[in-house]
Amino acid sequence: MLSAVVLISGGGSNLRAILDATKNPMYPVKVLAVGADKPADGLAHAELFGISTFVVEPDRFDSREAWARVLLSNIQHFEPDLVVLAGFMKILPADFVKALSPRLINTHPSLLPNFPGAHAVRDAIAAGATSTGVTIHVVDEGVDTGPHLAQSEVAVLPGETEHQLHERIKVVERDLLVSVLQQIAEQKITLNA
Ligand code: GAR
Repeated sequence: MLSAVVLISGGGSNLRAILDATKNPMYPVKVLAVGADKPADGLAHAELFGISTFVVEPDRFDSREAWARVLLSNIQHFEPDLVVLAGFMKILPADFVKALSPRLINTHPSLLPNFPGAHAVRDAIAAGATSTGVTIHVVDEGVDTGPHLAQSEVAVLPGETEHQLHERIKVVERDLLVSVLQQIAEQKITLNA
């Protein structure tokens, strides 16, 4: 059984997909806790499943490094095998990444290396891309630059809005994330920094 702490910032539909998968006793992943950088709506999914939550807000700290140290100690309290960034929208400092690497993964709504950063879906539409998708990757010290674990392509439909495209990407993303976690648990995917 692979144990995980999941970090979110928003609605947590990817988190919800993982939690729904864990209802199947054959699914080899257990979510120990869910953390956020704000009182994110998605924390409600964890509460529904009776899973511990923690919120560590950057505004309450003098520096990003001090914030990340407290975030890390909240995570380490649960001693997870893996930390999953599932819509966590803050960039993490190098010391945080080093402490968890390579057992820190992220899901990102583009086919990296295209469209890294916080506005991947908007950027793909603005660039006139006809296809984009999702990438799940190991986190390194760059922004969305770590080794890829899996990708899925999603066509960009003419005239669709950022919201419409992102919702279609998330449908693919949820399945891919649930599958990648299973493959990590079953050692079919190896994590390398
Ligand atoms: C997901 O599409 C995830 O890839 C993206 O935020 C969304 C969160 O959705 N993350 C990033 O853009 C990170 N750069 P959710 O809260 O419904 O799971």
